[in-house]
Amino acid sequence: MKIVLLGAPGAGKGTQAQKLVADYHVAHISTGDLLRAAVKAQSALGIKAKEYMDAGQLVPDDLVIGLVKERLAQDDAQIGFILDGFPRNTAQATVLDAELAQMGIELDGALLVDVASDVIVKRLSSRRTCRSCGYTAGPEATVCPRCEGEMYQRDDDKPETIAKRLDTYDKQTAPLIEYYGGKGILIKVDGDRPVDDVYVDVKKELGL
Ligand code: AP5
Repeated sequence: MKIVLLGAPGAGKGTQAQKLVADYHVAHISTGDLLRAAVKAQSALGIKAKEYMDAGQLVPDDLVIGLVKERLAQDDAQIGFILDGFPRNTAQATVLDAELAQMGIELDGALLVDVASDVIVKRLSSRRTCRSCGYTAGPEATVCPRCEGEMYQRDDDKPETIAKRLDTYDKQTAPLIEYYGGKGILIKVDGDRPVDDVYVDVKKELGL
């Protein structure tokens, strides 16, 4: 399985990726998680990235692309991977195409988790994320069910930043739907249904 996950912030990309990883043991490459880890470590990259993340903007391509290339080269990604949150614009998609071609890899699909923006605002405002492993769940979770870490509300899950992230998505990321549609590898699932129902469709569409 070598796929790209597309969808607005809060569409459920991470949630579906968590399920695929648990069942199929492929690498979950989430640029959001990689960036949040860099912020937590207070690395030079993390300090720069935080400014953009808090403003609901995309982190500059050169910072993100380096992280993804490094992660794709690791052993676990050779079996298969789910790219979650990357690419985020057509420049990143072009770099990814070139990198995969060099590695002799073809994407199996670009899976769009489709959800309307009013549903998204509600979901993100009540999302909790694990400080240790990045697991996401609803507001009822105070302890991470995966690693028992502390669940917290992400800084960018505040209403004013959510609106900016949605705007950034519409302007910069949504054009990728056409990009992958043009390559004939776009797969679309309706993400506005219970998690397990969405997952049944995801597996069906991926031929799993
Ligand atoms: P990132 O971490 O990638 O955030 P995002 O794309 O905005 O996606 P989210 O993680 O918010 O949402 P999701 O679709 O994974 O939803 P989830 O499954 O958690 O990026 C954060 C920031 O980093 C960006 O703004 C940017 O600054 C920077 N960045 C990242 N990648 C970058 C890149 N490539 N280039 C430049 N900058 C980059 O679900 C949300 C909630 O809904 C959860 O509470 C979940 O439990 C719930 N839920 C999920 N599915 C369902 C369902 N079917 N029904 C009901 N509830 C559900």
